Amino acid sequence: MSSSVSITLNQCSRTFAGGNTALQPLDLQVHPGETLVLLGPSGCGKTTTLRIISGLESPDKGGQVLFGKRDVTALPIEKRDVGMVFQNYALFPNMSVADNIAYGLKIQRLPRAEIAQRLDEVMRMVDLQGFGDRRIDALSGGQKQRVALARAIAVRPKVLLFDEPLAALDAKLRDRLRIEIGQLLRELGTTAVYVTHDQDEAMALGDRIAVMQAGRIAQLGTPQEIYHQPANAFVADFIGAVNCLDVIGSRADGGLIVHGGELSASHLQDVPTVYCRPEDVQVVPLDQADVRGTVVQSIFLGQSQRLMVDTGDASLLQIEAPSRQRWPNGTAIGLALPSQVLFHPAKPTPSVNTKEMANG
Ligand SMILES: Nc1ncnc2c1ncn2[C@@H]1O[C@H](COP(=O)(O)OP(=O)(O)O)[C@@H](O)[C@H]1O
Ligand SMILES: [Mg+2]
Repeated sequence: MSSSVSITLNQCSRTFAGGNTALQPLDLQVHPGETLVLLGPSGCGKTTTLRIISGLESPDKGGQVLFGKRDVTALPIEKRDVGMVFQNYALFPNMSVADNIAYGLKIQRLPRAEIAQRLDEVMRMVDLQGFGDRRIDALSGGQKQRVALARAIAVRPKVLLFDEPLAALDAKLRDRLRIEIGQLLRELGTTAVYVTHDQDEAMALGDRIAVMQAGRIAQLGTPQEIYHQPANAFVADFIGAVNCLDVIGSRADGGLIVHGGELSASHLQDVPTVYCRPEDVQVVPLDQADVRGTVVQSIFLGQSQRLMVDTGDASLLQIEAPSRQRWPNGTAIGLALPSQVLFHPAKPTPSVNTKEMANG
């Protein structure tokens, strides 16, 4: 939609009664039409941030919320023109699907014909055609969430806010609705903020992701940046699995000595540890290996398997291996860890790395 609005938070902190600081002073900008995901563990301040954007919560004194250039800090939720979708649906259980979806439209006193047309349009968008007369308590969880979604978009809000909308659904339904919400958000072009603790959901839906930790933003970036260039160990560990190898020495030629072998990484000098993702480690013949170890466990995942390899390091090395091959426990295994997959949060990653991956 051409009328998409930006969201700006200036120095928004939130301290609750008793001195519990949920949010440190936060600066955040959501671009017009963008979907920004707030991702982080339980209790890190995601919901508080979303509620401050919605008007359900006020920031501490000094904090400011802008929609576009308009200061909405003092406006209550009903004056902010936001649509919200919650984990627990928050529907009227004894009203029909159509009455739930049309609720906001009736409050806006839209003409009856326009309401009927909007109902038709949004029920089609969320794949609920024919369900208008159903009672809410006669719907499945996934259908209820579609109703909540339809209700939120029916009023054509400036801003869409989601708080863990898929958390109560089973895995298969979650995957499907995640794809549908993504399509819907692209179609609508409405500025959206989406809260989740699920990294897959965050990467699938976010144009950008703000990873939160203890009331602060630990990193803000595209899914690719967050995954391939994590700003610190917390982000690296929270997003996907990561290996952290102790560096126990270095060679004159720059080679890094680790348990079980040696790595070449000219972009990583003077680091105490080296990081790599399980899927970036390759199994190779022992005589071609950078690092050697022993398989101590293999976890079958269907599309792949996770091998746990003891290299003598304090922690086991996790690697992602093809699903059909077998490495019985105790097997000696050779691993290649090419320079371009090694990183350290404190060091810039060579840009060629992510560019090459982006080009496929
Ligand atoms: N109304 C409240 N009163 C007191 N503490 C609260 C209130 N709401 C949230 N908190 C606290 O603020 C912190 C952040 O909460 P929240 O924003 O809900 O986190 P998240 O959504 O990331 O799980 C938590 O420690 C939580 O216990
Ligand atoms: Mg929450």
